[in-house]
Formats: sequence, structure tokens, C-alpha cells
Amino acid sequence: MVEIDPSRMPRHVAVIMDGNGRWAQQRGLARLQGHRVGKDSVRAVVETSRRLGIRYLSLYAFSTENWQRPPREVDGLMSLLRRYLATELGKMMKNQIRLLAVGSLRRLPPPVREALRATIEATKRNTGMTVILAVSYGGREEIARAARALARRVRRGELRPDQITAGTFAKHLGTNGVPDPDLLIRTSGEMRLSNFFLWQLAYTEMYVTDTLWPDFREREFMQALSFFQERQRRFGRTGEQLEREGLRAAN
Ligand code: FPP
Repeated sequence: MVEIDPSRMPRHVAVIMDGNGRWAQQRGLARLQGHRVGKDSVRAVVETSRRLGIRYLSLYAFSTENWQRPPREVDGLMSLLRRYLATELGKMMKNQIRLLAVGSLRRLPPPVREALRATIEATKRNTGMTVILAVSYGGREEIARAARALARRVRRGELRPDQITAGTFAKHLGTNGVPDPDLLIRTSGEMRLSNFFLWQLAYTEMYVTDTLWPDFREREFMQALSFFQERQRRFGRTGEQLEREGLRAAN
């Protein structure tokens, strides 16, 4: 098992869970089988995060582009999500996990939307950890939505254009109130952001592994955390400046 320093945990870990389809294809199975096993990886990563004291965990479960997949796969993913919410609620309450969701939730089938709403409501006072599900999510759409909301506020006279700063902008994103991710994990080897958290990932450390998502469990997660702890986060400054300011990774 890799060594992890509990005092230098990332506060927020975001994950692009990729490779379910390839995992299934390699075994001659239907793609949906990959998503089913991927659900167990979700469980493993949530449990490990909670145990290690990670405060925020974001999971890219379904992108706006994923609506274009064959209807069978979309339906399968939607029902997986609904069942996951139903089976995990007890555990979320017991482990003090709060659920949030970001994305165009209006596009979701009503039973999924309702299950999300009910789980968010039931867990809203939990203080142990926050899990953020990105569903029907697109980073550009989220940024465009924030721009529209700000434009409306300017039109109503509530805000002057020069008052729109990075800070006010971030308050109009779905992740308002959630700190930006410290670590982004992407499975299955692709070096892309795929429209995920375009705003929020500005200074995030990236970890890409060839492991496919259904095979990504506690051991692989620990490796990603160990990578994070080896990084020195510079935020655009030099290593020397950081030494002087005492700003080290994850502090
Ligand atoms: C990407 O793999 C994965 C998805 C589009 C869905 C992720 C969903 C899950 C892990 C299961 C359910 C989620 C929750 C939160 C319970 P891909 O199909 O794009 O893989 P490929 O690139 O190999 O085709």
C-alpha cells in the first residue's frame, strides 16, 4: 500500500470516470456491464475519500455530449444512477455524506431528477463530506448559464459590468460555495478535459492513469493521492517564492 500523509490531503478531488465501455468490450460484454461495474468503483472511491477525510469529491457521471449515445445506453445509465441513489441513501446518512448535483438537471428523466432532488434534500445537513455528481453536465454550458444570469442582474441594475470579477462569476456557477478541485483524476489514459469543470480546474493538479474506471479502486486511488502529495503547487509563482511564503502543496 502506498504511503499517504493525512495532513496533506487534497480538499477537493474531481474525477473523470472513463473507460467503462472499453472495459466491457475487452471482455466481450455489453457496454452497460462496464457501467455497472463502474458503479462499484464509485462506491469504493466515495468510501475511501470519506475514510481519508477528503472534504469534497466530484464525479463526472454523465456529460451533455453523452445524450447522443444510443438510447439503450442512455436509459441504462439513467436507471443505474437512480438505483445508486436509492441503494446508497442509508450509507450516505450513516456516513454523514451530503449530495449535490451540477448540470442541466431539467433534461433528466423525471424519476432520476426526483431521486436526485430527494437525495439532495435528505442529505443536506450532513457534514462529513460532500459528493458532487456532475450529470447532464457541460462546462461551457455552465459558463454560458452564469454569463446569462450576470447579464440579467446587470439589466435589472443590481450589478455594474465592472463589478463582474472572477469571484462574482464563480458565484453564478453550479459549484458556488465549493472550493476548486485540488486534484483531477482521469482514468483510461485520455489527456482531455472533455468539457468538465472548465472554470474550476484552472490550478488543479492532473493525474491521468491508463487504468479503466471499472478497475479503479482503493489501491489506484491511493496512487493518485500519493502523486498529488509529491507535487508542489505553484499557482503561477516560482518555487523560490513559494518557499519564502511557506506555501506548499495542499496547504
Ligand atoms: C465513461 O466511460 C463513463 C460514463 C459515460 C458514465 C460513468 C458512469 C458510471 C461510472 C456508473 C454510474 C455512476 C454513478 C455515479 C452511480 P465510457 O463509456 O465513455 O468508456 P469508453 O471511453 O471506454 O467507451
